[in-house]
Amino acid sequence: MRILSVVGARPQFVKLAPIAAALAAAGHEHVIVHTGQHYDPQLSEVFFTGLGIPRPDERLRAGSGGHGPQTGSMLAALDPVLIRRAPDWVLVYGDTNSTLAGALSAVKLHLPVAHLEAGLRSFNRRMPEEHNRVLTDHAADLLLAPTAEAVRNLEREGIGARTALVGDVMVDACLSARERARAGAAPEPPAPGIDARAPYLVATIHRADNTDQRERLAAIVDALAALPVPVALLAHPRLRARATQFGLELARGSVRVGDPLPYAQMVAAVTGSAGVVTDSGGLQKEAYILGRPCTTIRSETEWPETLADGWNVLVDVAGPEFTGAAFAGAVLRPAPPAPPGEPFGDGRAAARVVSELERAAR
Ligand code: UD1
Repeated sequence: MRILSVVGARPQFVKLAPIAAALAAAGHEHVIVHTGQHYDPQLSEVFFTGLGIPRPDERLRAGSGGHGPQTGSMLAALDPVLIRRAPDWVLVYGDTNSTLAGALSAVKLHLPVAHLEAGLRSFNRRMPEEHNRVLTDHAADLLLAPTAEAVRNLEREGIGARTALVGDVMVDACLSARERARAGAAPEPPAPGIDARAPYLVATIHRADNTDQRERLAAIVDALAALPVPVALLAHPRLRARATQFGLELARGSVRVGDPLPYAQMVAAVTGSAGVVTDSGGLQKEAYILGRPCTTIRSETEWPETLADGWNVLVDVAGPEFTGAAFAGAVLRPAPPAPPGEPFGDGRAAARVVSELERAAR
């Protein structure tokens, strides 16, 4: 079979790594198309080199822009590539504008589309990712769901018949990075000014809802700065750009600002931390898998399984009930006594994805 993967943003490269390895092991032809949504080396290149992913076969250079222009430029560039490559499956990943563009282009060319990480819902229709998830799931022929909860969401929407529960390929990626980290040297500081041998927190903030209004972003940075433990804030370019635009200093109080980390270093940084503060979906799960308490700066999550036993808690930093003391108490709570479960699968999701693609192609 010829499988064509459409990827473009950081979390998709992480998901691509185990899929590329499993497709190669099964002897399938794999064409990798990079839309160019993420172009900074720290958000793109280092993931290909660090995770041993083959070089993209096609680069579309979509770049940044509003949702319409960005998605539209990907669509215009994807059509000729999909026609020329004529794959048996187009595989799209997660919930970014690259996901939606890949699904739309393929479905209109009558090419079979499979959606990896299908069925996640935040039920927040303000999120661009929620539009991308719902539209992609309803366009796709094969829905590869990571969790039982995702399967239930798809059944409720009347598309359960096209769904297969495969587990989460992020577990595959995370566990193999942890193995490599265990074999490696002493931990590196996750950001300048952090002592990796003393307690520290890992923080990331990049969602439009959190970064794009001055008041809200200021409240989040104030809350991080007032924490009694050093915070390694690994800054996405969008966070840096908005902070500069709003005249907000990120590096104050407890906050030490660092660059986004390559995947293996991120897994090592979380493993060595006292906890995680984030608005990323992937990092909520990585914290859970690696057994670190996570505090999520959002009012909902697509990964409700992480809330079990208090491994993850949701905090609205700009809400009326917020206090710095309560935030510090939440962020620095000890790890729950019961170990995290395995709602995301056993680390062998990529092999199941390949089996489902083979089965459904017949
Ligand atoms: C995208 C995804 C989000 C995912 C995130 C992972 C959508 C709608 N959102 O958000 O779901 O969690 O990727 O990081 O697809 N920028 C750079 N360099 C880059 C890329 C972006 O500086 O290489 C800056 C630009 O100012 C750009 C902004 O970041 O306008 C936002 O980038 P974009 O790809 O549109 O969305 P993300 O916030 O990265």
